[in-house]
Amino acid sequence: MSFEFLNYIWIAVALLTFFSLLFFNIKAPYGRHSNDSWGRMISNKWGWFFMELPALMVMPIIAIIGPSEKNETSYVLISLWVIHYVYRTLIFPFKLNTKNKKMPLIIVFSAIGFNAMNGFLNGYALGFMDLYLIDVTSYHVIIGSLVFISGMVINRWADNSLIRLRESKQGYQIPRGGLFEYISCPNHFGEIVEWMGFAIIAWNLPALTFAIWTFCNLSPRSRNHHDWYKQYFSDYPKNRRAVLPYIF
Ligand SMILES: NC(=O)c1ccc[n+]([C@@H]2O[C@H](COP(=O)([O-])OP(=O)(O)OC[C@H]3O[C@@H](n4cnc5c(N)ncnc54)[C@H](OP(=O)(O)O)[C@@H]3O)[C@@H](O)[C@H]2O)c1
Repeated sequence: MSFEFLNYIWIAVALLTFFSLLFFNIKAPYGRHSNDSWGRMISNKWGWFFMELPALMVMPIIAIIGPSEKNETSYVLISLWVIHYVYRTLIFPFKLNTKNKKMPLIIVFSAIGFNAMNGFLNGYALGFMDLYLIDVTSYHVIIGSLVFISGMVINRWADNSLIRLRESKQGYQIPRGGLFEYISCPNHFGEIVEWMGFAIIAWNLPALTFAIWTFCNLSPRSRNHHDWYKQYFSDYPKNRRAVLPYIF
């Protein structure tokens, strides 16, 4: 099977996942949707750590050990990936203000597979394929970097705002301020923007595949969160959308 074909299969799986999650209203059972009917459970902090570790390791290792020639743009891509996954693997889980919260092991194993695959595809592209090397001063590297950084700022601000909600009170509250006035899940929105930016810089099929996957994975989760907020809080603001301001 060619590398290109593998990417197309992975995009097809993403689209299938998107339509299944959306139309059958399936909720990935972690966080507020967690329940113990999915088998054995693990602490959610360690769950996050193990889920994200393959992405942190696989992409940079394959990209760096691979024989393909690299330039500054290759190292920009590797660095942005590492910056994101150091945060998601080593910092985010241990900042969470949740006590004794658990997630099913099956979620952890499926996310390990998901992250290993995305890490492999993106690492292989940089390490083993003779791609046309993009000049670091080209317009799409600059635009893509700005998009990535904007997404990262939004994602971290939203993650931190949600984590801070538990500092003064236990339980769930209505998040307020900034992008929360427009959408229920600015953290997911920021993550989607980040990987769109990465795809604009890389301008290759695996990065596009990962951007599509991120949208397909997170937009149904945002809708689940949004529906949950509307059910849980009778005074939940009516004008908010799930993840795309004014649209969805
Ligand atoms: N690239 C991908 O495909 C992908 C996939 C999944 C997640 N992610 C990223 O991982 C991060 C976490 O995602 P998530 O869906 O798990 O986030 P989430 O459900 O919004 O939860 C994040 C944290 O904030 C707490 N929290 C959320 N809303 C709250 C509220 N209204 N009041 C009080 N506490 C609240 C949660 O507590 P509880 O745990 O108790 O709910 C949890 O500790 C996001 O940045 C997301 O973009 C990326």
